[in-house]
Amino acid sequence: MNLPITLTINGVRREIVLDDPRVTLLDLLRERLDLTGTKKGCDRGQCGACTILVDGRRINSCLALAVSHDGAEITTIEGVTQGDELHPVQAAFIAHDGFQCGFCTPGQIMSAIGLIEEGQAGDDPERVRECMSGNLCRCGAYQGITEAVLEAQINMNAANMTAANRRRSA
Ligand code: FES
Ligand code: FES
Repeated sequence: MNLPITLTINGVRREIVLDDPRVTLLDLLRERLDLTGTKKGCDRGQCGACTILVDGRRINSCLALAVSHDGAEITTIEGVTQGDELHPVQAAFIAHDGFQCGFCTPGQIMSAIGLIEEGQAGDDPERVRECMSGNLCRCGAYQGITEAVLEAQINMNAANMTAANRRRSA
């Protein structure tokens, strides 16, 4: 059975023919499109290692059937840098040692980007921990992760305000 779908992945439109309706977004990305930055941890929606953004919302790609997302815009960890510059969330993870082995890190970063863009993180570390609770870290780097999310949020909000002011005065 051939199932044609179109996805825009990291800004690039891809025409894909699925030969199986059970293919998940995670397996499509990793095994067919060579986008292996998104990690497979549990493969059952329990660890968050496979988090990506679909139409701007964070999801566990191991639970999402590719065929159900025809036409979607997908962002993976490979698509978050801004030219040669790290995304502010990536930079904050490095600054705050928000990782050890790094396996969970792509999912943590995608989840953090989604959370900040949802505007729901606030400035309360406990709230950030709760909002990131779907992303497990076996190395226990939670303190650095929380600090990174808080700092990235401040930096992204400041950058957005500067851009808005520039637009107003142009
Ligand atoms: S691999 Fe998807 S939640 Fe664990
Ligand atoms: S850094 Fe090792 S699992 Fe999170």
